[in-house]
Amino acid sequence: MPLDTYGRNINYLRISLTDACNLRCVYCMPENQVFRPRDELLSTPEFLRLTAIFARMGVVKIRLTGGEPTIHPDVLSIVSGMRAIPGINSVSMTTNGVLLEKMAQPLATAGLERVNVSLDTTDPTEFLRITRRNSFEKVWQGVLAAEAAGLLPIKLNAVIVRGFNDHNIAKLAGLTVEHPWHIRFIEMMPFGGSTDLQRSQVVTTTEAINNIENTYGPLELLDNGRMDGEAVMYRIAGAPGRLGFISSVTKPFCAYCSRARLTADGRLRLCLLRENEVDLLTPMRSGASDDELRELIAAGIWQKPWGHGLANGEIPLNRTMSEIGG
Ligand code: 5AD
Ligand code: SF4
Repeated sequence: MPLDTYGRNINYLRISLTDACNLRCVYCMPENQVFRPRDELLSTPEFLRLTAIFARMGVVKIRLTGGEPTIHPDVLSIVSGMRAIPGINSVSMTTNGVLLEKMAQPLATAGLERVNVSLDTTDPTEFLRITRRNSFEKVWQGVLAAEAAGLLPIKLNAVIVRGFNDHNIAKLAGLTVEHPWHIRFIEMMPFGGSTDLQRSQVVTTTEAINNIENTYGPLELLDNGRMDGEAVMYRIAGAPGRLGFISSVTKPFCAYCSRARLTADGRLRLCLLRENEVDLLTPMRSGASDDELRELIAAGIWQKPWGHGLANGEIPLNRTMSEIGG
């Protein structure tokens, strides 16, 4: 892929298949979120065409996100279609797990490599408060089904929100004592207006680590602090699983960012936390050639912003998290 102005090699594309979701997490969207009509979203052939163009430009790794990617009716053929594109060597998915019990095996058969499942708590009542849906048991069965289907290693993503799930951090971390899973604690990005959550509800990595150490004793830093993607990895002494901490708010990792995002409505989004986007859907539907689309993409990547402004209170307002895909 073209390098950006800062010499970052963009080889990882996150693709949001739909902005719709079967949960309503408090940190992501309001209860009454309105989703986009189908004809404003990329079709399956359009997703595959754009992915092939990105692959020719050097993208090797795809992650499917949403909204919730498993509710897309063509998700299996999208996975197998993307796997068949020359140059793409990995297709993985971030999912809320609600539908995984049935879909994990078909997804694995279609060529999906791994899943990250969003799971913020082991307590069903807390789960209901955070996601506004009573689906804890389904998600738990989904995680087990993903493990049985070989979508390994199992990585669970937990966003910690003060007043919602900050009392059960150690219990969640304790899953790594019984399972060889990675539990990744993500600092909540406070999106103000769209979610009503405040900066004061962000639980920092330092606070989460202290909390876990109070129960389990000193954590062991793994890999000499080398990051696994955006996470710094630790282990509870003797545990088969691992803990990851993603400090998007207190310690941004923009210098190592190798990713771009394609939204379900066909925009190239250059940074999760900046509003800059390039419309690919409109030119594509007006007959743009692959070369013309490639030029638009290259020009967009060249303008990829250096970093976000969360620390200065600069928050993107043009989309909710579910419309970007995390
Ligand atoms: N802050 C941090 N992470 C978030 N996610 C959704 N909204 C937020 C937010 N405000 C995460 C979900 C999921 C991924 C797609 O994005 O937990 O793991
Ligand atoms: Fe859905 Fe994921 Fe947003 Fe939760 S965080 S509402 S599961 S898109």
